Amino acid sequence: MSKIKVAVVFGGRSTEHEISLISANGILKNINRSLFEVIPIKIDIEGHWFLQTSEDVKATNGTAITLVQGTNNAQILENGSGKILDTIDVVFPVLHGVFGEDGTIQGMLKMLNVAFVGCGVLASASCMDKDVTKRLLRDAGIAIAPYVCATWTHTPNFEKVEHELGLPLFIKPANLGSSVGVHKVKSKAEFQAALEDALKYDGKVLIEQNISGREIEVAVMGNEKPQASFPGEIVTDGGFYDFESKYVSKDASTIHIPAQLTDEQMEEIRETAKKAYTALGCEGLSRVDFFLSDDGVIMINEINTLPGFTPISMYPKMWEATGVSYSELIELLIQFGIERFEREKALKIVAREVK
Ligand SMILES: Nc1ncnc2c1ncn2[C@@H]1O[C@H](COP(=O)(O)OP(=O)(O)O)[C@@H](O)[C@H]1O
Ligand SMILES: [Mg+2]
Repeated sequence: MSKIKVAVVFGGRSTEHEISLISANGILKNINRSLFEVIPIKIDIEGHWFLQTSEDVKATNGTAITLVQGTNNAQILENGSGKILDTIDVVFPVLHGVFGEDGTIQGMLKMLNVAFVGCGVLASASCMDKDVTKRLLRDAGIAIAPYVCATWTHTPNFEKVEHELGLPLFIKPANLGSSVGVHKVKSKAEFQAALEDALKYDGKVLIEQNISGREIEVAVMGNEKPQASFPGEIVTDGGFYDFESKYVSKDASTIHIPAQLTDEQMEEIRETAKKAYTALGCEGLSRVDFFLSDDGVIMINEINTLPGFTPISMYPKMWEATGVSYSELIELLIQFGIERFEREKALKIVAREVK
């Protein structure tokens, strides 16, 4: 049997470009080469695509390319000459944040009629927008932290928000990740400065009640019948899980997998993770992030459709603790992408030639 040609696409224009490189490096080093022929494609910070000549993710060393539709695959064309350099059966978009996790590349891949790993257009876009995610979760009867939104044109009155949600408050851009633009505020002056900063990243900002409690995460994978891993816990020293503790200072946070929970809590969190995944229409994979409040309420903070994916990231680590190795996980995610593509191909949505 010929190998499945998988394009691992990484880099990209988002603020999480560097993190994508690390995730992709992990995948390139661990993907099962006896099953898959790997095609490394890098998107540089300006958005140009390159077919890499080496698997060194840091270097941008390839031929400038464009993807076009083939027959049940995508073709890689050399820019300028238009020469077909290769074909792709399935794309693994290892892109975090905007233009990667937000439905945009998913839309492009659907237009190319090629299979891809992970959530589709709507689930990616819905999970990218924290306001939309929370509305859909609320609609599914899942607890969330109370919040209001501010926009470029409307900022709620501080006294009113304080009265409704109390202090401290969390201020965060609706469509971003890696804790960029996230602030914990305790006064009117801090509130105004934080809003001003968060609105630099997005036209919509969430103002959320502070949830005092624990941060628990669950890895979910699958299409119609999703599976949930054992939960993990992130313990930060003092502050919150900010950019520094995520990527800079290794000592600022500790990870516990599995999280120390009662059997009932464990069960409820895993079930809620699957319920949320289905409610948001997720496919392939997502990491569902929870708060377990000091008074025992289980609520969802956010859903990441392409969570950090290095071998030491929470998502793969939680699967490993549940009995799925990193390279098995990669294989399963590719299979889910292909299965979804095959299922959608059977839908009667495309024009047929009238004879
Ligand atoms: N309402 C909240 N209550 C308590 N902590 C919060 C709240 N919102 C965010 N945080 C803290 O900020 C971190 C980043 O916020 P999050 O909403 O997860 O954004 P990001 O997409 O950047 O990860 C969380 O992991 C948590 O530590
Ligand atoms: Mg988060």
